[in-house]
Amino acid sequence: MTYVTKNNKYTKTHAPIVEALQKAYENPTYQFHIPGHTKGAGVLGEFKQLIGKKALSIDTTDEFDNLGTLHPATGPIKEAQELAAQAFGAKKTFFLLNGSTAGNLALAMGLTKKGQKIITNRNCHRSILTGMIISGAQPLWLVPERFDEWGIWGNVNPENVEELLKTHGDVSMVWITNPTYEGVVSDIKSISAICKRYNVPLIVDEAHASLWNFSEKLPTSALKLGADAVVHSLHKTGGSMSQSSMLHIAENSLIDTDAVEKALKLLHTTSPSLMLLASLDAARAHLDSPKGRKQIARAISNAKYLRSEIDKMEHIHQLKPDFGYKTDVTKIFIKADGLSGKRLESILEIDFNIEVESASDAGLLILSNIGNKRSDMEYLADCLKKIDKTNYSDICYLENKKHMPMLTPIIKMSLREAFYSEKETIPKSQAVGRISAEVIAECPPGISVLLPGELITENHMPYLTDYEFIEVIKKRA
Ligand SMILES: Cc1ncc(COP(=O)(O)O)c(C=O)c1O
Repeated sequence: MTYVTKNNKYTKTHAPIVEALQKAYENPTYQFHIPGHTKGAGVLGEFKQLIGKKALSIDTTDEFDNLGTLHPATGPIKEAQELAAQAFGAKKTFFLLNGSTAGNLALAMGLTKKGQKIITNRNCHRSILTGMIISGAQPLWLVPERFDEWGIWGNVNPENVEELLKTHGDVSMVWITNPTYEGVVSDIKSISAICKRYNVPLIVDEAHASLWNFSEKLPTSALKLGADAVVHSLHKTGGSMSQSSMLHIAENSLIDTDAVEKALKLLHTTSPSLMLLASLDAARAHLDSPKGRKQIARAISNAKYLRSEIDKMEHIHQLKPDFGYKTDVTKIFIKADGLSGKRLESILEIDFNIEVESASDAGLLILSNIGNKRSDMEYLADCLKKIDKTNYSDICYLENKKHMPMLTPIIKMSLREAFYSEKETIPKSQAVGRISAEVIAECPPGISVLLPGELITENHMPYLTDYEFIEVIKKRA
C-alpha cells in the first residue's frame, strides 16, 4: 500500500493489525480458546446472517494467532500504536477500548491523587468527572463563555485559566475540552503557553477532533500546540468502529506516561477485541492516505456547501465564528425560528428520514462526515429549504424542558466524598435544597446537569423532566 506522509513524500506504510487479521483469517487454526462462538459457529443464525460470517471469523482477542497483545503492547498491536503516534505527531499512542472515556479515566487515575486540584471546564464530559471520583482529585471550575442565544457553551478564555492558576498555587493539571460538542474552538496555544509558564501539565480532551491533524483547513490539534496529552474519539469522526479511541502523549510531555499506561491496564478489558483494534489501525492508515485526505477535504467542502445554502434561508440560522472564536467547519449547529431543536429534529426524522447528531432545546447539530457524499448534503439542504418555506407554526411549541446544562454548580462536598457517602433516593419534587449524590449527564453531550456534591436548586428542574427520583446525600438523623 502506498500512502502520503506529512512532508508530501510518498512512502510505504501499512496497517499491521489489519494485515495480521487477514493472515489469521486465511490460515485458520483448530480453535480451542475464547471467544467460544468459534468463528461464528456458535451464534444465532439470524445474527450471523446480519453481521456476516467473515466478521465473526475475525472476532478474536489478543494472544492468539500472532496478533500481539494490548497490555503490554506487543507484535502488530505495538507496531500499529507506533504508526499512530507517528501519524498524529505523538511520543506515544495508546489504543483505547471503551472510547475516550477509558483515556480520560486513565489520565485521572494515573496522574492525579486525592485532594489535588484540577482546573477543568464546567462543560467537561462526564468521564472526566468519573475520573476525579476515582482518584479523589477536585475540580476548580472554569466557566467558559455562554452563547445564550444558541443555548450552548462557548470557548474557554485563557485569562480565566491564568486567574485560577494565580489564585491557587497548587494546581496539578489543567484539563480543557476542545472543541465543544458543537465545534466551538478555544485558544489552546495561549492556554498551553500559560500552563508552561506555571509549569502545570495541560490535557486536552479532543474527543471530537480526530480529523484536525490531517487537514490544514481544520483547526490545529493540541498536540502541535504544546498540550501534554490528548484523547481522540476516532470512532466519532475518524472512521473507526464504535467505542474505539486513542490517547496520545505528546513529545516533550511533562506527564508520567508509565503511570497512565498502568492505569489503562487496570481499566481495560483483559479480552480486547481485535476487530476494534484493527479498526483503529485502519482508520489511522486511511486518514493518512490520499483517499482519506480526499474524504476529509470532501467533508469540509460539503460542510461549506451546506452552510452557504443555510445562509440563503430566511428562518434557519447557523452558528458561525462571528464573535472572535473559531469553529470546526464540519460541525454545523443550526436553529429555526419558532421551533425548538428537538422539534426540528423530529420534523427531519419523521418527514424526511434524516437522523442528525443531536438536538437540544435551542438547536441541532449536523456532522459533515468523511463518509458523506455531496448528494447527502444536497438532500439535507433541500429538506431544510422545504422546512424554511413551510409554516410549521401549527405544530410549533417550545418545550418546557432543557437539554444542554448551562449552570454554574454550587459545590457543597467533593465529588468523591459525595459519591461514596450514604445516600437516599427521593422524589424529584423534594430535591431542591438537597445535595446530589450522583452524576446526571445525558448523552449526548454527556455534560453534567448534576454532580455528586452539588446543591440541587430550582434551576436544575427544567433539565430533570425525565427523572422521577434523584439520589441525594442522606440527611444525618
Ligand atoms: C468531550 C468528550 N469527551 C469524551 C467523550 C467520551 O468519548 P467516548 O464516547 O469515546 O467514550 C465524549 C463523548 O461524547 C465527549 O463529548
